[in-house]
Amino acid sequence: MSDARLKEDPAGEDLAHERVNPSAERPLGAIMDARLTRREVLTSLVLSPVLATFAELVRGGLAHAEPAAGGSTLGFEELEGRLEKFHRVARGYDAKVLLSWGQGVVSGAPSFDPYAQTPDAQEKQFGYNNDFIAFMPLPRGSDHSDHGLLCVNHEYASPELMFPRDPPSEPQPSPEERLQERERDRSKVEVMLAAHGHSVVEIKKTGDVWQTVPNGTYNRRITTRSTKCRLSGPAAGHDRMKTFEDPDGLWVKGTLNNCSGGVTPWGTVVIAEENFDFYFSGKPSGSELANHLRYGIKGKPRWNFGDFFERFDVERETSEPNRFGWLVEYDPYDPQSVPVKRTALGRWNHEGAAMVLNKDGRVVVYSGDDRVYEYIYKFVTKNAFDAKDLAKNKDLLDEGTLYAARFEDDGTLNWRPLVFGQGRLTPAFGFHSQADVVIEARRAADLMGATPMDRPEDVDINPVTGRVYASLTNNDSRDIDRLDAVNPRYDNRFGHIVEMIPPGEGKDADHAADSFKWEIFILAGNPRDKKHRAKYHPDLSKHGWFACPDNLAFDKQGRIWIATDQGKRQGETKIGDGLWVCDTTGPGRALTRHFFSGPLGAEICGPCLTPDNTTIFVAVQHPGEEKGSNFEDPATRWPDFKNGMPPRPSVVAIVKKGGGVLGT
Ligand code: FEO
Ligand code: CA
Ligand code: CA
Repeated sequence: MSDARLKEDPAGEDLAHERVNPSAERPLGAIMDARLTRREVLTSLVLSPVLATFAELVRGGLAHAEPAAGGSTLGFEELEGRLEKFHRVARGYDAKVLLSWGQGVVSGAPSFDPYAQTPDAQEKQFGYNNDFIAFMPLPRGSDHSDHGLLCVNHEYASPELMFPRDPPSEPQPSPEERLQERERDRSKVEVMLAAHGHSVVEIKKTGDVWQTVPNGTYNRRITTRSTKCRLSGPAAGHDRMKTFEDPDGLWVKGTLNNCSGGVTPWGTVVIAEENFDFYFSGKPSGSELANHLRYGIKGKPRWNFGDFFERFDVERETSEPNRFGWLVEYDPYDPQSVPVKRTALGRWNHEGAAMVLNKDGRVVVYSGDDRVYEYIYKFVTKNAFDAKDLAKNKDLLDEGTLYAARFEDDGTLNWRPLVFGQGRLTPAFGFHSQADVVIEARRAADLMGATPMDRPEDVDINPVTGRVYASLTNNDSRDIDRLDAVNPRYDNRFGHIVEMIPPGEGKDADHAADSFKWEIFILAGNPRDKKHRAKYHPDLSKHGWFACPDNLAFDKQGRIWIATDQGKRQGETKIGDGLWVCDTTGPGRALTRHFFSGPLGAEICGPCLTPDNTTIFVAVQHPGEEKGSNFEDPATRWPDFKNGMPPRPSVVAIVKKGGGVLGT
């Protein structure tokens, strides 16, 4: 078997562009827009007349309506946007590679040899396609910024860049040769499963330079291949979670497609299972047919893991997909801790998990569903966080209320509860318990009238204002007759960022409230190209624009750091994915500046700041992932640039030369 069968869809994220939401539920805005003529929509640069009226209603609306003075709090000289085979950072900063795919993580890891990779070696080494990063200071509970644990997700594996090409097959292979080929392919699939998951790596800074601590005592790998995870919350033990391997429905082998994540107020890490549907083969049927179709499982996976492991074939193991698509919590300070899939928080293509301690002590978790026309959700814990007795918070994420977001055109955001027995979430609509609601959270949100969004990626919370920001990365299937005020561009190729505004400000913000306000913060793309219909601060430089916002982070001053993932659109915009930053309030609001640029083909993930804001870590994911790029002839050999060495996804540490707070 060739790699072509290991990876059926070389077009990267194309499956995320496939609409699986059949919901006829349309928010009020869509109905209003349906009254507009096609000409009216086409001739407006950004907003239709109805939407402009709406924008006036919501206190200044778009970023361009803010005062125009160029009073940004940022001081660095920004980068020019272009495509390069290497990474670049703003003048006066250093961006050094800290951790790369294949580097040893746990003791006994063999040195990296991409020509002789084995599943057992990969199980001990840093995984592939690093995404989310959390910096967890050492010792626990401190705010140290020069010593800590780097907790890193590994979202997926790219076989065409990981493995040398196989020798050509014999035209008529003997049974023995066919067996050898199959064994080789099975080994590759196992390497890929071991390259997924998560790594914990102890790191230390001396002077300006970060280094890994060899064989750090907290170091561990969590993988899809072998790490046993516990199920908790309403779906644990339910019949729909039972499999041949786990007849009680209480544990799962591995966590899958870990994209972004978050950190709890009690110092654990939550990692999100995103595109789990990419892995399941077989035609769904029977009682789970509609459920699997709603989650995009229809017998056309991106990777044919079901050829080697029957749990990834829904014809042989119907319930297995129900055991992925959750938020998974683990304790990085306890290398023996068992990761727990917290099912109360719902199941979908979880991009991440942004957490905040609400003013009443409850914890609120925001999470987007990264698929076109899917939703933004939040979860509010039932009980309050106990700062004095950390052990009491252990299972705080098992009880609470899940909500889906409905964005009204008048600038109101209503959170619709997804609670069994309320609204249409009843036996008449096929829900028999809260377990059904969380397993089929997408359908529950459909029935409760949530607003279909332009691919919700990361959500993050401004620590100064309490406002919540969501990246809507792009949706080129957004039709003119499905526009609404919060998704105002048809053929939305470059994405936008929405600002969700709870009642109250800063520490007094009430994230548990049923009703928020909302505004559009930035419409991404190049504002100098009218076809992009982009909007930022009017003083934006020619280098300050970006496309396809993905992961977000805030610094202590409330400035937003925006990482991008354009995928195949790098060829269209001719700028690399990277990191941009701007103020969210004051005269520099939405005046983004270009800070870091990744190598060709890579998206930029993380980003993560140390508590003192003097280092930002970024994850450079899938460098060299371009059409036709492969192990022998990659689009870039970043970061090693050595003949024969393929590109390696890596974490980069960025500091100011001579020290100092980032952005100045
Ligand atoms: Fe894995 Fe939605 O990015
Ligand atoms: Ca992401
Ligand atoms: Ca991404």
